[in-house]
Amino acid sequence: MKLIEKLLQCPQCKSNSLKYSQEYVNCLKCENEYQVKNNIPLMFLPNNWKKSINDVSKIVKKFYEKTPFPNYESIENKYDLILKAERSFYAKILNEQIPFNTKVLEVGCGTGQLSNYLGIAKRYVFGADMCMNSLRLAENFRKNNNINNTSFIQMNLFKPVFEKESFDLIICQGVLHHTSNPYLGFQKISQLVKKNGYIIIGLYNKYGRILTDIRRSIFKFTGDNFKFIDPRLRNIDRGKLKRESWFNDQYKHPHESKHTIGEVINWLELNNFDFINAIPKTTPLNPLTNNEKLFKINKKGNMIDHFIVQMFSIFNGYREGGLFLIIGKRR
Ligand SMILES: C[S@@+](CC[C@H](N)C(=O)[O-])C[C@H]1O[C@@H](n2cnc3c(N)ncnc32)[C@H](O)[C@@H]1O
Repeated sequence: MKLIEKLLQCPQCKSNSLKYSQEYVNCLKCENEYQVKNNIPLMFLPNNWKKSINDVSKIVKKFYEKTPFPNYESIENKYDLILKAERSFYAKILNEQIPFNTKVLEVGCGTGQLSNYLGIAKRYVFGADMCMNSLRLAENFRKNNNINNTSFIQMNLFKPVFEKESFDLIICQGVLHHTSNPYLGFQKISQLVKKNGYIIIGLYNKYGRILTDIRRSIFKFTGDNFKFIDPRLRNIDRGKLKRESWFNDQYKHPHESKHTIGEVINWLELNNFDFINAIPKTTPLNPLTNNEKLFKINKKGNMIDHFIVQMFSIFNGYREGGLFLIIGKRR
């Protein structure tokens, strides 16, 4: 039995009595049938929330089906992917510090660059997303580069297709702020973490995003002129498609919310997680070092610390669009 078959559950009735073939996954309990296309099980089910709740998943899905993110331009094979990842301090140390043989789930993996990168080493990596165009790019890259430790699956993070406590590490970066209810999303995916396992959540910061909001207004009033005011857009070493994909994701997105360090630390506490680390750090004058141990416990700081760090992020968080990462460990 393949690992994925041991971990999957039906997103409809939550039964793990599933029958697998090349073309379908069938639930033996509720009899739902999920197609498997291009090696990707299509197990996305829409939210069945009350009409009064504004469910943005349809418009967000439509947006990413048209502009999958991130773009693979100039990444032709896994050596290009490794080079790109190793230029990013975070991706490099993440890869170095996730042990072999761990089970990792990337929720909202987009085109799967991180999942494919982490799956080059001997781990069991799953990339889940609701957007099929992104997953198709992810799976084609995986297949063409013989990355055999990564698998992709179509899933709605509000209706997980994995059994509770299945993963040593869940990574969910740049995703929950594009949903109708980020905290509910956090609750759903955090249940998939094993005891003593970790979760990494990346969200737009209320303060770190201020410059992006100002630039968005300038683009709006100038008909998308003056693109040079965004450092990533004036960097012509990045290909045209990459710059377009960044521009759309940052400035044309149909839905985003913004969050604070204190808010996410509170989510951790309410859901039985300890705070472990963050990027940027949650205490001031405490920069990341080359020897950073991502999964080693750090001080979480108090409200004043968070305020100072977030104020600084107005000016230094812009390169990543004001994203901050928090790492928690399940008790
Ligand atoms: C900005 S992209 C982030 C991609 C990747 N995590 C990264 O950091 O480059 C956001 C992704 O979240 C996915 N997403 C948003 N809502 C989702 C949901 N309800 N279920 C699954 N995926 C979702 C989108 O399809 C999109 O691919």
